[in-house]
Amino acid sequence: MSDNFKASKDFTKEQNLEAVRMLGLKLATDPRWVNIAEKSIHEILVDHAFCEQKAATQCISLIVRFADYPKIVEKVAPVVSEEWGHFRKVLKELKKRGLELGKSRKDEYVLELLKFVIKGGPKEDHLLEQLLLCGLIEARSCERFRLLSLYCTDEQLKEFYYEFMVSEAGHYTLFLDLARTYFPPDKVKKRWQEWLDYEASVMENWTLRGDRVH
Ligand SMILES: [Fe+2]
Ligand SMILES: [Fe+2]
Repeated sequence: MSDNFKASKDFTKEQNLEAVRMLGLKLATDPRWVNIAEKSIHEILVDHAFCEQKAATQCISLIVRFADYPKIVEKVAPVVSEEWGHFRKVLKELKKRGLELGKSRKDEYVLELLKFVIKGGPKEDHLLEQLLLCGLIEARSCERFRLLSLYCTDEQLKEFYYEFMVSEAGHYTLFLDLARTYFPPDKVKKRWQEWLDYEASVMENWTLRGDRVH
């Protein structure tokens, strides 16, 4: 796990872009993804908006499901507001470009990750699974936002995605820190590596789509 990982508003842009480069992920996205994504910016923005909505929804369900874990409630509650704020930012960007949100779509990537979640067993173990799942989605989103902020030809979108990259990096750190708050470091490390391996195996066979964030 990247214990030293840190991206922050206080760092220079270059420091953040470098910090976010891989986030422990085992397989980097082909930067040419940005070229195809740029051809369908409406689709990307719509998909992105729903990713933010799902992130907010997921944080709410985490709080409801694990309401008897004080740190979860305390630390995740502000993330709900941030993710909802992100959703609204993307809505604003769509509006500015004269584009509409349209219908929600299935998130194939997240559905694929969900197959790896351990079912059954003690409630506590479910918490670990959910925290690592959330951390992983944040990490991959962050990695994709980094690519957009580096290689997008639209200068304004570059800035737009840079802001998201930094914010999602903070969420990634938060979910992994919460995992280490409630579980022994060795247990977190072992399961995190398993998640990273699984995610890499998913990405290896994943079709790069210009109309999806993932
Ligand atoms: Fe977000
Ligand atoms: Fe996030």
